Amino acid sequence: MYRSHSCGELRASHINTEVTLAGWVQKSRDKGFMVWVDLRDRYGITQLIFDEARTPTAMMDKAKSLGREFVIQVTGTVIERESKNAKMATGNVEVLVSKLEILNQALTPPFTIEDMTDGGEDIRMKYRYLDIRRNPVKDSLIFRHKVSMEVRKYLSDQEFIEVETPYLIKSTPEGARDFVVPSRMNEGQFYALPQSPQTFKQLLMVGGMDKYFQIVKCFRDEDLRADRQPEFTQIDCEMAFVEQEDILNIFEGLTRHLLKEINGVEVAEFPRMLYDDAMKMYGNDKPDIRFGMEFGELNTVAQHKEFGVFNNAELVVGIAVPGGNAYTRKEIDKLIDWVRRPQVGALGMVYCRVNDDVTFKSSVDKFYDQEDLAKWAAATNAKPGDLICVLSGETNKVRAQLSALRMELAERLGLRDPKVFAPLWVIDFPLLELDEETGHYHAMHHPFTSPKPGQLELLDTDPGAVKANAYDLVLNGNEIGGGSIRIHDKQIQATMLRHLGFSEEEARAQFGFLMDAFEYGAPPHGGLAFGLDRLVAILGGQETIRDFIAFPKNNSGRDVMIDAPAFLDNDQLKELGLI
Ligand code: AMO
Repeated sequence: MYRSHSCGELRASHINTEVTLAGWVQKSRDKGFMVWVDLRDRYGITQLIFDEARTPTAMMDKAKSLGREFVIQVTGTVIERESKNAKMATGNVEVLVSKLEILNQALTPPFTIEDMTDGGEDIRMKYRYLDIRRNPVKDSLIFRHKVSMEVRKYLSDQEFIEVETPYLIKSTPEGARDFVVPSRMNEGQFYALPQSPQTFKQLLMVGGMDKYFQIVKCFRDEDLRADRQPEFTQIDCEMAFVEQEDILNIFEGLTRHLLKEINGVEVAEFPRMLYDDAMKMYGNDKPDIRFGMEFGELNTVAQHKEFGVFNNAELVVGIAVPGGNAYTRKEIDKLIDWVRRPQVGALGMVYCRVNDDVTFKSSVDKFYDQEDLAKWAAATNAKPGDLICVLSGETNKVRAQLSALRMELAERLGLRDPKVFAPLWVIDFPLLELDEETGHYHAMHHPFTSPKPGQLELLDTDPGAVKANAYDLVLNGNEIGGGSIRIHDKQIQATMLRHLGFSEEEARAQFGFLMDAFEYGAPPHGGLAFGLDRLVAILGGQETIRDFIAFPKNNSGRDVMIDAPAFLDNDQLKELGLI
């Protein structure tokens, strides 16, 4: 038996008990006649004591030789601590060691195994197994486990069945590039790793599984960000004989369950917002509604004066920054520089101070009088003491720019409180999206999403206007899930693929299996997938998913610990038919 107790377990009630513990040396303090060692495992830290009066000399010497992160096993008696530590769960006791075994030595770790470590991101990634010993990372992984368990429990109770689907498949378009795997047995041919199990879960509905879920790895070769990894995990779900309303209810239930069980937060019914309204009011299809600062469109009140910049713009739109009138001229200039950074891309920013006496002072006073500016304030819901920030230009661009400014200011103003949860359904997404570069339409969600009833005809005349039975679940400004009601009719699926630019042969080659299945009694069906990494991060009060993944990739998609990806040698390339 390696241990009788964990390092987080001993309390005053254990005093005088003989125990055996095993773990890592967090630190040791050598006072000459006495040595204290903090012994750590996943469960906590227990203080060990060796002292000249009670410990044999040989063991005393061994205790003095212990280095940080040595793995040891000790047997001893639990005694009352002289100076108690109320901050530690085990702080009332210590173990007077009678037997010490060094199970393994350790090199000095390249960074301190402390909550606030001295190691930078790169070094911690390279030695991720040491990083995992630190509480913040360890606790995040345990937190993730708890969320996964609750998800499984909730969905199983609702009669969802977890079914595994294959990883070696062929392309399932979800809008990213595929990772591909060469086939040795089928020279020159490649599998694609799933961007999601989308087509398989639909086939499971044809197969009569009725309610499916899977906590599953997905693979997407796309540019990385704080909330994106090339391999990530979905809670993938699908249901037969459902309408959008059923799906929203079930997964709102799951989300509410998690917020309650994991965060102890009860939330009211989730608001629902049309995609078009989200874009108009927040310039974003995943608005953070923990705070206001909604957009006020100013075309009617700001155009047709003498100000050419606004007159030539497709959209003039502003937000009221709470308390922003306190900003100095210098601070406002910095804000203007911020919106002009290439990452945001605005050409400039007009502003208007709202004074406490409800007079206005704008950067364009030459063109606008007090009466005009009062209309700006009304449109942006600005209060005395606020600052109205106004951008103008092409609609989509200017909305994205103002949305970025809104989020930045909210962050600076402390309005994005991670302990407040504001979920939101965004519904009625467009079916198609125009690719500005190629001039072609592609599916905004994926090609299996059904148009809203009665909108199929519009596909020929005004494809951009067709709305889909598609919805996203947004939490605190992050898209944590998305889904749709699917097409289950072969003909409609064929029409859809044609509109996406697939020739009949291409559609057959890529999706023939699905369309064939639709001819054997496919039930109406739909579903949704949560991004588990994102969900866990946000429930955990953060937005960077890397901290909640045991072995994440860095920003270049590399695993710097195992050094992947790597080159293959020529023999292997030959065997795979790649040279
Ligand atoms: P979608 O592509 O919207 O839908 O993905 C679902 C959710 O997965 C998360 N997600 C990611 N998380 C981390 N890293 C990534 N690279 C990444 N990409 C996506 C997001 C997103 O909301 N098959 C459909 C679902 C369906 O229609 O049922 C799908 O995959 O949180």
